Amino acid sequence: MPRKKLIAANWKMYKTPDQAREFFRAFLPLVASHTRDEIAVCPPYVCLPAAVEAAKGSKVAIGGQNMYWEQEGAFTGEISAPMLLACGCTHVIIGHSERRQYFGETDDTVNKKLERALEAGLTPIVCVGEVIQEREAGLTEEVLRRQCNGAFRGISGEKAARLTVAYEPVWAIGTGRTATPELAAEAHQVIRHQAAKALGDELASKLRILYGGSVKPDNAKALMSQEEIDGALVGGASLDAKSFAGIVKY
Ligand code: 13P
Repeated sequence: MPRKKLIAANWKMYKTPDQAREFFRAFLPLVASHTRDEIAVCPPYVCLPAAVEAAKGSKVAIGGQNMYWEQEGAFTGEISAPMLLACGCTHVIIGHSERRQYFGETDDTVNKKLERALEAGLTPIVCVGEVIQEREAGLTEEVLRRQCNGAFRGISGEKAARLTVAYEPVWAIGTGRTATPELAAEAHQVIRHQAAKALGDELASKLRILYGGSVKPDNAKALMSQEEIDGALVGGASLDAKSFAGIVKY
């Protein structure tokens, strides 16, 4: 059975609640009749209630961009899985390269967050990907294997049914430099292979692996036509309603 694609927006640190409402006013009519793919938008935390309210009654899911693995406690500045659920979120991005680069996330913290997100019933989007030096040194496969093994450690096949992975080569993020569809598909095969080893063949065959890194309306079709690519995680081009709708409807 072909995997249904997921086209997800990662707004990063952009938009206020008013701007989020404005986005949905423009975006929802553009995708109202779109049923081919699943759509999710991950705004900053402060926009979550506005986004959930605006997307009510539509097929657009809302997600967080991060979460902490404890339920609650003295963890200033953090937010938990139950809090995301209580806001109406169904998805959460985990281990984005910007979090790994600027906020000290490691394969270990990604693993803890993933475990908790799955337990809570959220759909986690776990991000992996190599930096340019690693690609140039021929280390891409090794990096992906390490990140996947770290993330999937101790996760049981059954629990992982909702798991989604995003391959985001760091050199393609926000640079306008996209991985070729073939190169992305190659990396996706490495990820699927690791998933099969950790979680079993059946789960790996159903696992959705998104591509992220300078996805735009004009390159979405070529990327999405690859059998190995099960959707997109879109940064910059998801901030504008028309542009994100253009990607959704590639
Ligand atoms: P861009 O689409 O801006 O390259 O960002 C990709 C990304 O990091 C999505 O999580």
